Amino acid sequence: MSDVTLTPELIRAALTTVKYPGFSRDIVSFGLVRKVTVSPEGAVVVDLLVESKNADVPRYIYENVMGVVKELPGVKQLDVNIEHHAPQQRKAASDDPADWKSSVPGVRHVIAVASGKGGVGKSTVSANLAVALSRLGYRTGLLDLDIYGPSMALMFGTKERPGCSDKEQFLPVEAHGVKLLSMGLMIDEASPVAVRGPLATRYVQQFLRDVDWGGLDFLILDMPPGTGDIQLTIVQTVDLSGAVIVTTPQEVALIDARKAVGLFNRVETPILGIIENMSYFVCPSDGLVYNIFGEGGGEREAQKLGVPLLGKIPLDIQTRSCGDEGRPVALEDPGQNRVAAAFQGVASGLASVLGM
Ligand SMILES: Nc1ncnc2c1ncn2[C@@H]1O[C@H](COP(=O)(O)OP(=O)(O)OP(=O)(O)O)[C@@H](O)[C@H]1O
Ligand SMILES: [Mg+2]
Repeated sequence: MSDVTLTPELIRAALTTVKYPGFSRDIVSFGLVRKVTVSPEGAVVVDLLVESKNADVPRYIYENVMGVVKELPGVKQLDVNIEHHAPQQRKAASDDPADWKSSVPGVRHVIAVASGKGGVGKSTVSANLAVALSRLGYRTGLLDLDIYGPSMALMFGTKERPGCSDKEQFLPVEAHGVKLLSMGLMIDEASPVAVRGPLATRYVQQFLRDVDWGGLDFLILDMPPGTGDIQLTIVQTVDLSGAVIVTTPQEVALIDARKAVGLFNRVETPILGIIENMSYFVCPSDGLVYNIFGEGGGEREAQKLGVPLLGKIPLDIQTRSCGDEGRPVALEDPGQNRVAAAFQGVASGLASVLGM
């Protein structure tokens, strides 16, 4: 028999361990808990309000609240009531680009592709995701925000310089069905980008604001590696629909992926899903599958965050060589090419998460 008295405060404290899916913030600090009552006999009633288009969200919260409160000593009966309705219609649902919420003019959804750790394949994933979205019929743009190591010009095989509109905005170039803007298209290959600190920040802000994208369903932001000032500037400058986290399966990459999740949590940007890159290798000679960087890391992390694992991209020679030759592998026939199929799956998963 416990001598701790069961009170609404005690229950609220316990509810701070229940996270909102996709966030590291809990349901209490998000203001979802409307009312908690406890009768002297130990009958507990918890009233919650959940605003989400996704029916999985209230279900997830219900199960977790049940699980946590049931375990408290003295709880004899438990009712969890969730009032669930879709959030107030976001302006983004309108077909008029002037109404779209994102702060990038004429763009419906801005999505950051981030990782924390360098070299895990953000740029490869960004390029192929953009191509796959475009192949699904969405008007798609890609902005390479890595001003120190831009790679998109190479990955898309273009050297065309962006134009300038009569409103003095950049005009993106078009390659493989994607509107593209990258520092790599603005500078000569040999010239080092000797910009630091505030100037780098100013460049990035200009790329986010002063581009005439001409109407897009999706703008993919290829984020620079790390979780420092420049990344924070990016996520604070734009109203993102969400972020996609790229990781490889091993623990060192997952640690940095968590830092990236923390960055987006700071600005209350939802994590839309995880993509596990270099997930496995299929040996071309014997067809055997090798889990070179370990197994299941992306899946576990996605479960922990309550977000979907949008896809597993194999470690694949053609994916690397296509990137170097300026023809993203997602242009291949998904019926014939495993990686193109994986990216198609990621693209349709992402579109459906966003209700597109
Ligand atoms: N699935 C894959 N299979 C084979 N090679 C890959 C795969 N994904 C990425 N690569 C290769 O790994 C290298 C690093 O990838 P990429 O440049 O996309 O990573 P990044 O996370 O953007 O790096 P950075 O942090 O420097 O921006 C590249 O040479 C790329 O071709
Ligand atoms: Mg990169």
